[in-house]
Amino acid sequence: MRTQVGIIGAGPAGLLLSHLLHQRGISSVVLEKHSREHVERRVRAGVLEQGTVDTLVRAGVGDRLLREGLPHQGIELRYGAESHRIAFDKLVPGRSITVYGQQEVVKDLIAARIEAGGDIRFEVDDVALHSLRERPYLTFGDGERLDCDVIAGCDGFHGVSRPSVPDGVLTVYERAYPFAWLGVLARVAPSADELVYARSERGFALHSMRSPEISRFYLQVPPGTDPGDWPDERIWAELKTRLETVPGFTLATGEIFEKSVTPMRGFVTEPMQYGRLYLAGDAAHIVPPTGAKGLNLAVADVRVLTEALDSFFATGSADLLDGYSRACLKRVWRAQHFSWWMTTLLHTFDTDDDYGRRLQVSHLDHVTSSEAAATTLAENYVGLP
Ligand code: FAD
Ligand code: DHB
Repeated sequence: MRTQVGIIGAGPAGLLLSHLLHQRGISSVVLEKHSREHVERRVRAGVLEQGTVDTLVRAGVGDRLLREGLPHQGIELRYGAESHRIAFDKLVPGRSITVYGQQEVVKDLIAARIEAGGDIRFEVDDVALHSLRERPYLTFGDGERLDCDVIAGCDGFHGVSRPSVPDGVLTVYERAYPFAWLGVLARVAPSADELVYARSERGFALHSMRSPEISRFYLQVPPGTDPGDWPDERIWAELKTRLETVPGFTLATGEIFEKSVTPMRGFVTEPMQYGRLYLAGDAAHIVPPTGAKGLNLAVADVRVLTEALDSFFATGSADLLDGYSRACLKRVWRAQHFSWWMTTLLHTFDTDDDYGRRLQVSHLDHVTSSEAAATTLAENYVGLP
């Protein structure tokens, strides 16, 4: 079997790449280790930057997103007994975010690929990468082989692509955080119109949403927390303690139907390529989710990679491909910094003493009272051009 681009992973990065390449007449095959049901049900991100929405709409996969997505013009920062709005409409006019579940993006992309006759293989075992410097190929399953001109490693943080690069080629930059997020979905109308990022002495909490009927919440918890130790009553009690801190705010509760724990880390590999292998999305970098950047970075990588592959197949020139990593890393590091900054602003750290806690509150006071500081948050949050 032969294709132009062998894509490993049917997450947002791999699926969008396959879709955009198809629109430019470039063939691809996507190899995914899980089932279609599994990838369509995996609950993760929910915040799409303006640029991500524009990319999906331009690619013809934005109809449902425009119909069902929730456009937001601001977020709330809550701490002490105060809540402050960071108003995108005022600070960065014309740019906003849209709340739309990542698994809905994945469903829309899979449907588009299947309708166009695209080749996505689900439940594929033992994908291995070979001969990355020239004439690359993939093997998988019962001795099947896929010859490619190029391989796109879109297989997330725990995939096989990055570890297939020979030792000594990649440099890894990493920071682990001493906490995790417990994320839940609940059948209850959101108690706020916009996302609430809350800092409390007991840790961070985030109130997000998926629809007028479904709310999404996150709680800062110790690393390695077992979701089984968090029965629904405990989750609601903790969310109320951390969120019901301002007059007039009451958190509505309902049935919790999804719980998971995500470790928090920043991670970047440089370069994001080796020979004819190009890494995109979480395979190349991870951010702590406080800045809502992971999915958006994956989409940004894929935009750059699509242009580079288009140029390569149209002209034979590898110039853009050679510059792929350099072109992506500037945005990747901006997102790393912003995600670290948001995380530091809003979480409690075991190492914090009273001095550290006062610094954090002073930082929040500054962000919520200085238009310049609030604009810095807003322009990073909605996504830099
Ligand atoms: P993935 O979605 O991880 O997809 C990789 C795919 O590769 C998977 O389907 C996997 O099954 C497959 N795969 C792995 N190994 C193999 C193999 N060996 N062979 C074949 N297939 C393989 N980002 C945001 O932008 N905004 C947010 O609000 C946000 N919130 C988040 C909240 C949480 C709780 C979490 C966990 C993440 C959040 N993120 C957010 C990050 C975002 O979900 C990821 O950055 C995004 O999923 C990256 O997409 P990807 O396609 O690169 O990787
Ligand atoms: C969501 C996730 C995030 O990481 C974030 O910063 C904001 C919202 C969400 O899943 O809705």
